[in-house]
Amino acid sequence: MGCCQCQGIENMFDKKAAKRALKRYLKKGPSKTTGMLLKAIHKTEVKGLEFLDIGGGIGAIQYDLIKAGASSGTSIEASPAYIDLVKEEIHKNNLAELIDFKHGDFTAIASDVNSADIVTLDKVICCYDDMSELVRLSSKLSRKIYAIIYPRDVWWTKLALPFINFYPIIKGSPFRVFIHPAKKVEEIIFRNGLKRDYYATTLFWQVAIFTK
Ligand SMILES: C[S@@+](CC[C@H](N)C(=O)[O-])C[C@H]1O[C@@H](n2cnc3c(N)ncnc32)[C@H](O)[C@@H]1O
Repeated sequence: MGCCQCQGIENMFDKKAAKRALKRYLKKGPSKTTGMLLKAIHKTEVKGLEFLDIGGGIGAIQYDLIKAGASSGTSIEASPAYIDLVKEEIHKNNLAELIDFKHGDFTAIASDVNSADIVTLDKVICCYDDMSELVRLSSKLSRKIYAIIYPRDVWWTKLALPFINFYPIIKGSPFRVFIHPAKKVEEIIFRNGLKRDYYATTLFWQVAIFTK
């Protein structure tokens, strides 16, 4: 992928990071915030619904929704290492025909992506500089549920940001984490006809579900 941040994504979310994340998931299950998001999504019956998981990493949301009876899904992932590993796992579990994998920057390929009942971005908005395009294009594709996890824009997360970004800097990676203003994120989502139905926070993250 061409853009500077996308090259950064490829070298930050590499094979080693993907294997580490999969090992953790297989041992402990979804992270606390992913668990919160999934619980909130399951307030709606997902059986028979289609999903679109953007930046799904090792696929925690995809496994969960398929197991809960979602009819099919699309996974769009910027990191080739993550997508290869998820494909392997999905094949092992005989679920391959239910998920369509696309490698790329979602904003670059959004015009070729179909809408879905459930659209999820779990800790992806913070990896992307052009938040407006990412949120605008992805929320437009949601038919029922738009589910996101992104950092809170409060003083302590902003204070932590330079320390978080110190790691890619010393690694020589162009990757950066961004804390985008929640008000702006939500304004874009509301403009696409969604309303907020669920909201929860942890110290660092905000977990939100929007519905049509
Ligand atoms: C912090 S990880 C989160 C992974 C997973 N959702 C989770 O919570 O474990 C962010 C993921 O989003 C992907 N990503 C970031 N920007 C993206 C974009 N514009 N299009 C597709 N994937 C993207 C990265 O490759 C990475 O796998």
